[in-house]
Amino acid sequence: MATKAQNKSLGKARNSKKDEFYTQLSDIERELKHYKSHFKGKVVYCNCDDPRVSNFFHYFSYNFEKLGLKRIITTCYKNKNMELFSKNDSEQAIYLEYVGDKNGNAVPDPKEIGIKALKGDGDFRSKESIELLKNADIVVTNPPFSLFREYVAQLIEHDKKFLIIGNHNAITYKEIFNLLQENKIWLGYMHPEKFIVPDDYEQREHRSWRDENGVNWRSLGNACWFTNLDISKRHEELILYKPYNPNEYPKFDNYDAINIDKVKDIPMDYDGVMGVPITFMEKYNPEQFEIVGLIAGNIKGMAGIKSSSGKDGPYINGKLKYGRILVRNRKPIQ
Ligand SMILES: C[S@@+](CC[C@H](N)C(=O)[O-])C[C@H]1O[C@@H](n2cnc3c(N)ncnc32)[C@H](O)[C@@H]1O
Repeated sequence: MATKAQNKSLGKARNSKKDEFYTQLSDIERELKHYKSHFKGKVVYCNCDDPRVSNFFHYFSYNFEKLGLKRIITTCYKNKNMELFSKNDSEQAIYLEYVGDKNGNAVPDPKEIGIKALKGDGDFRSKESIELLKNADIVVTNPPFSLFREYVAQLIEHDKKFLIIGNHNAITYKEIFNLLQENKIWLGYMHPEKFIVPDDYEQREHRSWRDENGVNWRSLGNACWFTNLDISKRHEELILYKPYNPNEYPKFDNYDAINIDKVKDIPMDYDGVMGVPITFMEKYNPEQFEIVGLIAGNIKGMAGIKSSSGKDGPYINGKLKYGRILVRNRKPIQ
């Protein structure tokens, strides 16, 4: 449930790129419970987070002692909600630092939150934000979807650990797919359910509604978590039980690979290349499978194997199938 302050402030938030999707505390809690061991003694940086509305800041400040954190740093882009902490009308952006509870009430009081001025607007790509990034161990946030590629590239360049929300479609972006293939990033556990969006975001026929308090909600359906923190899920093997037979698993017209329509139907004994649905990435264990490439109607040159016809998409009997990730089982049952 959104607070009054959140509603008012979110109503005002505007962004021509429609990047204002505010993450629910419950979605953060559902994912973060799988990562507790990673945070002890660490500096967490939330670099796309207005602390007045950011549930990431809320989660980490209220769980600071439980997680054994060293510090939380939060930068607010364009300083939209400066008035929460100050009546100052300055255009200057700010960042916050919290180093834990001092007065023993186990709550992050405004006095305990260090507010410091930034020279610029808090853009995650700015020199100042990058300096803060360099001092951080783990970045956790929901960054702007429109800048996702650039955002991830910066984290990789600075060799940071991270846990961030993105769109499932990002799996098929060349840059992101390469990182998945090289086992530099992987998917987390959950799918965030719904986000608060500003008042002026239009209502859509599906996945869009206003609650009884007038709060504008949107569910993306395909939001997910991307991370490079090791999680147990990534070491769990997909249980396979179906034997291969050529009638059930036809080859693509143009690739020496068989088509598989459902991840659960991956045969246990096939040792060649298999085209599996994109949702396979949710179950991917690099000890069990090797990722060979990606084929889809709109994607060129990422198959990792040769197309016999020169065409890029996954075709069967002349018909273009849905996008497929090409994988090989590292240990097919003999
Ligand atoms: C998807 S929203 C998520 C907000 C918040 N992290 C959360 O999870 O509730 C992305 C946020 O990034 C901010 N943003 C957009 N461009 C940015 C930039 N270049 N640098 C930093 N933040 C940016 C937007 O204003 C927006 O509030």
